[in-house]
Parts: sequence; structure tokens; C-alpha cells
Amino acid sequence: MTDLIKLEAGSVGDKMPTKTFRLTHTLSDHPLFKLDRLARLAASLPPDQVEFNGPVQPNQDPSLTPQNGLSAEETVRRIEDCQSWMVIKNCETDPEYKALLDACLDQAAVQTGGVMGGAKERQAFIFVTSPNNVTPLHMDPEYNFLLQLRGTKRMSLFNHKNADIVTEEQLELYPGKHRNLPYKESFEAVGTQQHLEPGDSIFVPLFDPHWVQNGPEVSVSFSITWHTDHSLRMVKLSYVNAGLRRIGLPQASVGTYPVIDTIKVAAYDVARLGYDLVKRLLGGRKRAVALVFGETTVVN
Ligand SMILES: [Fe+2]
Repeated sequence: MTDLIKLEAGSVGDKMPTKTFRLTHTLSDHPLFKLDRLARLAASLPPDQVEFNGPVQPNQDPSLTPQNGLSAEETVRRIEDCQSWMVIKNCETDPEYKALLDACLDQAAVQTGGVMGGAKERQAFIFVTSPNNVTPLHMDPEYNFLLQLRGTKRMSLFNHKNADIVTEEQLELYPGKHRNLPYKESFEAVGTQQHLEPGDSIFVPLFDPHWVQNGPEVSVSFSITWHTDHSLRMVKLSYVNAGLRRIGLPQASVGTYPVIDTIKVAAYDVARLGYDLVKRLLGGRKRAVALVFGETTVVN
């Protein structure tokens, strides 16, 4: 099979999974990423799988995020001039994108020599953005290869363990919590800035905050994400610690008390069974979150 993803020999070393590194890919001219195909994909998916908005800043106040007044399909077709940002979520629900996601991650898993742990819970996201648009500072609760397909991007990336950038509380996950994080220009002095062109890719470690400035052209990026047993454990602990903090019981850092961490993970697994049952009975995640957590809006 053609090489879809290529890692330079020796580029990974001991970097994965905690440090960023660059790789390349051969998907820039792939028919699944032409704007007409992406417009049809956006139109075919349920509304909660396609999120889009007008121009924003790195430190965007989520409550003031501007809308662009267009449909998802119109946003893709008019992306050149509508000053918008769009993410098409869980593209793997479309069989063609699922096959491509699997092929990319299988190739990367072989080339990284087993550290991707079988690449579980695979998900794919496509970002379609207008010239000069910004993706505000945020972090993602999964491992990610971001593949640049069209246009250019500059990504600023920060170590999530640097308390001057982000606190443990800000990193904790909670249903309904907006993903945007507070940003200051002074962060740049301790970050990594990466310029991405078509054919370039970057590994984004779990929880590491980043923001993105698009170049002066339309940008299309493919984000392929996965989990290992370790990352799933970290995500579960993040949810449990956030929940305990919200009832007035802030917790020690993950790893301080390993036995307690193990008990928390077991408690999460039990609670999750109940939550999934409620979700099935109510017919959707939004309704389940509203009932269990008292939230009315859910963002990613
Ligand atoms: Fe991200």
C-alpha cells in the first residue's frame, strides 16, 4: 500500500507520547478532502457533528463566539470569503473516511514500534477554515496527528505540565465545559511554534494546549486521534477529579496516590455504565448531560 503517513527514522525516539514531533503525509490531493466532497460530507452528517463560527481570537470568550449565518454546506462552499472556522467531527461515521483513518493509524502504529498501543477509540476530525482565521487556545483529550492538506498553519503548542500556562483545574474535563483556555502572548516564549504546509504533519500530545493561526489561504486539515490504555486512564481520572472538585473536594495530582487513582478509575467505569444507560433511555448525549449534570449546552 502507498505510504500515507511517514515518520523520519529516529524522529520519534522517546518523544511519543509526551513530546511533539513532525512527520509527513501524502494525502494533500486525496479526493476525500476536496471542498465539494467536504461540503457533501458536512451536509450528510447530523448537526451536532458539524460545528462552525465566524472570526475569533486566541483568547476568545466562548459566550461571544460569532455565528456566520450560513448552513454547514454553505460554509464549506463559501469558505474562501465567509471568514469562518469549521470542524467536521467524528468523520469516521462515514465509511470512506473511516477506512482512511484506519489505514493512516495502522501505518503510523507500525512505524512507531508499538508505543501507540493498538491505537484504540479512533476518531477523525476535519478542519476547514477561511484565510487568516484563528483557532483559540484549547487542549484535546486524546493523542493526535494533525495533517495539513491545503493552505498553511502556524501552531503554537505548550506543555500541559507547565503551571504558568495552564492549571490542573483548567485541564480537568467536565461535560458541558467549553474547551477554550485563557491565553496570554507571554506564553509564546515557552511554547513550540510549528509552521505547517500541505504534506506536513505534527504529533500533538494528550492535553497539551495549542492555538492555531491560519495563513492567507483556505486551510483544510485532517486530525486523526486515538487512545492507549494510559490515555484512557488519564481522561477518566480527569473527569473524576473535576467532579470531586465541583463538590468541594479538590484532589492531589494524578500519580500522587496510585491506589486512590485506581479506585477512581473503577468508580468512573461503574458510573459510566449508568450514564450510558441514561443516554440510551433519553435518546442522546445532550439530554443525558442536562439530566445528570444540569448542563444545557455541550461543546465537544
Ligand atoms: Fe486541537
